[in-house]
Amino acid sequence: MDFQAIRKEYEDQGLDAKQLGDDPLAALSYWMQLATDKCPGSWFEPNAMSLATSDLEGNVTVRVVLLKGILTDGVQFFTNYDSIKGKQLAENPRAAVALHWPYLGRQVRIEGVTEKTSRSTSEEYFHSRPVGAQLSASVSRQSTLLPSRTELEQQKNLLATVTDGPVPLPDDWGGYLLRPARFEFWQGRSDRLHDRVVFTANESGSWDIVLLAP
Ligand SMILES: Cc1cc2nc3c(=O)[nH]c(=O)nc-3n(C[C@H](O)[C@H](O)[C@H](O)COP(=O)(O)O)c2cc1C
Repeated sequence: MDFQAIRKEYEDQGLDAKQLGDDPLAALSYWMQLATDKCPGSWFEPNAMSLATSDLEGNVTVRVVLLKGILTDGVQFFTNYDSIKGKQLAENPRAAVALHWPYLGRQVRIEGVTEKTSRSTSEEYFHSRPVGAQLSASVSRQSTLLPSRTELEQQKNLLATVTDGPVPLPDDWGGYLLRPARFEFWQGRSDRLHDRVVFTANESGSWDIVLLAP
């Protein structure tokens, strides 16, 4: 396959830093709303984001998770606390995420520090998921060796039969809040002369805004 021949032209739809305002979380909400409104089909998840974490030795891992909340102090996602990402975040809470909406020619990058959400926040989200997903999260020790898929399915079915009422939130499952220190809003432009607007948190509690060369 000739990857060098793959070439998409970005439409010349510029990004003016002023359009983003002075609150990057509000700007993210606005971009997310547009990404959802313009979503090309149910096959695309506009809230899917790549999440990079690392341990203290500098080993970096990345995977996709779903953005499940934009709050005034950060962005939320949910996962298993004993997974690879969970173990890395326990060692080193710094993380970075990237969202990409190809149909808008847009990317948002966020870097910051994570913390676990409260158990009640995790519980509320956990119980808002379909029961099947709750059962799966309860039986799956995410990222550990799986000797038998059949056994895992049997455990899920067994839990379904013995559970009377709501599925309890597993101790190893819950949310993280990524408190952002830096955002980058990227808009693809013609001839690869893209726009990049960076927000960096400053000591006075507001954001410094600069442009970066593409
Ligand atoms: C579209 C998509 C959405 C996903 N969403 C989540 C999620 O919200 N939480 C999660 O734990 N894993 C999610 N996953 C699975 C992760 O990418 C990953 O396989 C899993 O979390 C284990 O990662 P780890 O071993 O690095 O901790 C998603 C995968 C895809 C492709």
